[in-house]
Amino acid sequence: MNLTLKIWRQKGPQDKGRMVEYKVTDISEHMSFLEMMDVLNESLVAKDEEPIAFDHDCREGICGMCSLQINGEAHGPDRGITTCQLHMRMFKDGDTIYIEPFRANAFPVIKDLVVDRMSFERIQQAGGYISVNTSGNTQDANSIPISKHNADLSMDAASCIGCGACVASCKNSSAMLFVAAKVSQFALLPQGKIEAKDRVMNMVAQMDLEGFGNCTNTGACEVECPKGITLENIARLNREYLAATI
Ligand code: SF4
Ligand code: FES
Repeated sequence: MNLTLKIWRQKGPQDKGRMVEYKVTDISEHMSFLEMMDVLNESLVAKDEEPIAFDHDCREGICGMCSLQINGEAHGPDRGITTCQLHMRMFKDGDTIYIEPFRANAFPVIKDLVVDRMSFERIQQAGGYISVNTSGNTQDANSIPISKHNADLSMDAASCIGCGACVASCKNSSAMLFVAAKVSQFALLPQGKIEAKDRVMNMVAQMDLEGFGNCTNTGACEVECPKGITLENIARLNREYLAATI
């Protein structure tokens, strides 16, 4: 495939940034999207030009680092996958592809396609943990009865990888789906009950402080989430929040 790429280039946080056009040739449909970006970067380096900065780590859909807005969609046109799991077979010869960073005030651009998602880390630090008794007489986790239904729902919520696609897809740049997943994974388990009230209050307060907007109820986040985190989690977050404020 021969493709035209229109890519966001931005030297640093203070730079205004702009779209720059590149051509790539002989791209195999079996390549991943990031491999295609590697090919482009190798050609830029060979020409003594600055390669395009983009985030990635595991390239297996686990770490949540890769974060590209491709043709206006977080993680591109496929469903239930991250950018690193997107394959070039989703495109066709002659296509023009627009590649931008995830856009949100709370995700400032560091360089080119790399954004700062430390706001998610600060939300996690505000309450995304449980206290564990390490005195030596800790109860074996396997001896605490948990219904299969709740265990499954908690595991589903825990599959959130913190990629930020939900924020990038939301017209309010809301982080509700992310926070809902992080609250839900503990709210469904007895181990999460101890700090339940503080957790939801503190995480929501930090979410607001970081500048994320409120939920639009349009569900774009659920559509673009690579891990299938559902809106039911936002309903649970709202219930947890209400219960904590009474
Ligand atoms: S809820 Fe989904 S889209 Fe949002 S951060 Fe978690 S995995 Fe990514
Ligand atoms: S690079 Fe780790 S999820 Fe894409």
